[in-house]
Amino acid sequence: MTLSDVTLGELRELASRYPQARSALLPMLHLVQSTEGSVTNEGIEVCADILDISAAEVSGVATFYTMYKRRPMGKHHVGVCTNTLCAVMGGDLIFERLKGHLDVGNDETTDDGTVTLEHIECNAACDFAPVVTVNWEFFDNQTPESAVELVDQLRAGETVKATRGATITSWREAERVIAGFEDGRADEGPTAAGASLAGFEIAKANGWTAPAYGTDATAPTGKADKSDKAGATTKKKAAEQADTSRAETETAIEESPAQTSKESASNEPASKEDSDD
Ligand code: FES
Repeated sequence: MTLSDVTLGELRELASRYPQARSALLPMLHLVQSTEGSVTNEGIEVCADILDISAAEVSGVATFYTMYKRRPMGKHHVGVCTNTLCAVMGGDLIFERLKGHLDVGNDETTDDGTVTLEHIECNAACDFAPVVTVNWEFFDNQTPESAVELVDQLRAGETVKATRGATITSWREAERVIAGFEDGRADEGPTAAGASLAGFEIAKANGWTAPAYGTDATAPTGKADKSDKAGATTKKKAAEQADTSRAETETAIEESPAQTSKESASNEPASKEDSDD
């Protein structure tokens, strides 16, 4: 048995956090990864034993989700998003450059054990495409050159800070946090920024707010007294004002120069031949 008594205790603690113990399987597998460097056979057996389910069921989960690794990982996991948007914005180029630079293929680890490279699916950071992740922390708007510089810094053991997130530690430490054991660094570094906040800034400039609960005609009403009705009327007026403001902005967008020039172009005769017909 390589799993320590401390880890066994923490696995049991995770199982006790849920009304149904088997709901803890996902964090438990992350904890196994954090101590063993991958989901080992022993880790699968132990999880199955604690949760009173079969090893086949645990194995089915561990082999279904790509965040669970059945092979030993390097110190850092470097993910390159090659999903559609990142791919066309340069993700494919970044992945190819890193494969050559690190001399590894997909899901392989460098000889010095510092970096495991993997192409990953959309990380919901498309507004910063192309993105690279290190131990699931974001590195936004990357280029092949910046990605090479990033992995070189990791391999040299330099301090690396995520574009939006905490200072990089290691894949194993990140796995422990994902398992549910906080390291107290959740608020470290910037979080939302740039394009992610564009909608919020537009709403703020226009005084838009989300409709309060109950302004929707389909929302449950119950028995209303006079003050409820007065409140509902105020909310309705606010919602109507927001709708008017939104409609004015949408009209302005529709009448933008780009749209107008497109429309006027489409109204012109397509060619001399057409006009001759
Ligand atoms: S396509 Fe890369 S983050 Fe969405």
